[in-house]
Amino acid sequence: MIKIENELTKMLGINFPVIMAPMFLVSNKAMMEKAISSGIMGVFPSLNFRREGELELLLQHLNKYKSENKSSGNFGVNLIVQKTNPLYEKHLKICVENKVPFYITSLGNPAAVIKAAHSYGGKVFCDVTNLTHAGKSAKHNCDGFIAVGQGAGGHAGPFPLQVLVPALKENFPNIPVIAAGGIATGSGILSMLAVGASGVSIGTRFIASLEATVNAEYKNAIITSGMDNIVMTTRISGTPCTILNTPYAQKIGLQQNWFEKFLSRNPRTKRYFKMLVQVRGMKQLEKALIPGNHNNLWCAGQSVELIEEIISCEKIIEKLKLETEMAYLGLNKNVTVS
Ligand SMILES: Cc1cc2nc3c(=O)[nH]c(=O)nc-3n(C[C@H](O)[C@H](O)[C@H](O)COP(=O)(O)O)c2cc1C
Repeated sequence: MIKIENELTKMLGINFPVIMAPMFLVSNKAMMEKAISSGIMGVFPSLNFRREGELELLLQHLNKYKSENKSSGNFGVNLIVQKTNPLYEKHLKICVENKVPFYITSLGNPAAVIKAAHSYGGKVFCDVTNLTHAGKSAKHNCDGFIAVGQGAGGHAGPFPLQVLVPALKENFPNIPVIAAGGIATGSGILSMLAVGASGVSIGTRFIASLEATVNAEYKNAIITSGMDNIVMTTRISGTPCTILNTPYAQKIGLQQNWFEKFLSRNPRTKRYFKMLVQVRGMKQLEKALIPGNHNNLWCAGQSVELIEEIISCEKIIEKLKLETEMAYLGLNKNVTVS
């Protein structure tokens, strides 16, 4: 089986440069265990563990699991570092107490997370969709970027990864870049390494896994949908987010109306309104996970096009490794460089 060793695998203590991306309401304990035992980095959003004491327990478990299994994988936590996340400071404190080895920050200023993590050797990668975001994170000494490109599940960026990744490398040559968005196969992984990424982050592929905490309808929709079934909506969080184009998504509309836009821009109302939109969006997403529910609001990226079966996380990772090797060997066979 292929073994890829680079600055990223060494920095993160993994044996294959893949991150199982954090997914709200999808990532869970079983998925993190499979990521660790399969040699990759499993990351979950802290907001999936909102009940009192839940996050502490999981972190203690994963630290123990990792040391007992002497595994080659690792785990990390995704923190939404926005003022509108009321649990941010509390969750950061719990993560630091449990010496979380890796963080992905999204949607705000990562400075506090970076400072806290660096105090004990933790690493922090920041979600970025353009060079301006990246410049701000670099100023705070982030350890790497998650370059979120077009068609990604969740808050997709505007640029294709073939442009965003080399642009980041050109402007910040010493900061490792992870490519995120639309990757669900080994050839996708190899292509990102070729444009300068040190690794990739994969979300949507893992929704159609046996372990994911979502109902069968959602998983089936992932394997039966194509890329043209994915649309962008601002109705869930206020920021453009990719979802499956279900009848319910059509019914509630994909854009905020003029009054909602006004409230989210007005300096007096913006913070509270954004908070309200996010809480409402989270509730809608949660409701959509109840089996048999018809209000289907399902977040997913364009890589649904490439996903055909619901299998275990372990199998998905094994397949990704094998496909990367095949793509590498195939490339050498098909290309003559003279
Ligand atoms: C269902 C779903 C939920 C997500 N939730 C989060 C989240 O809570 N925090 C976050 O930073 N990114 C979130 N993302 C984005 C992923 O972490 C990752 O960037 C993205 O899935 C990569 O693109 P891909 O889905 O095309 O592989 C989510 C993505 C999906 C599909």
